[in-house]
Amino acid sequence: MDHKGILAAYKDVPGGMIEAFHAIQRENSYLPEEAIIDAANIFNVPASKAYGVATFYSMFSVKSRGKNVIRICESAPCHVAGAAQIVGALEKELGIKMGETSADNKFTLEFTECVGQCQSTPVITINGKAYLDVTPAKIPSILAEY
Ligand code: FES
Repeated sequence: MDHKGILAAYKDVPGGMIEAFHAIQRENSYLPEEAIIDAANIFNVPASKAYGVATFYSMFSVKSRGKNVIRICESAPCHVAGAAQIVGALEKELGIKMGETSADNKFTLEFTECVGQCQSTPVITINGKAYLDVTPAKIPSILAEY
């Protein structure tokens, strides 16, 4: 469903704009500018308010991202367990640096805080799915799933 269809579906739902932004981000990996402007029109609020909602919550990204968002946990337990080596392996495999998106728009690399899986560090997530006890050697087969 395109973002207009999603916005229309949440138009009369309480807290609908936030719910719609979640759904749009699931489709696009981020909130495109035109979706935010259309949200302002559909929810009948100033564009500044729609931008405010989109930028206030850390779970939303207004920056273009690849289809698959890879997050590397950088909190202390994962850091100690070798998150830096995982970062190195991902950067090498994808040919991009942290914060960047691959040229084919397939992958974006980001850091995240603890995702609550500290029993099996280091941890990465791809589109929200957690991969535990990650090693540099496991990176190619994990990426091959995508
Ligand atoms: S510190 Fe990485 S999952 Fe908790």
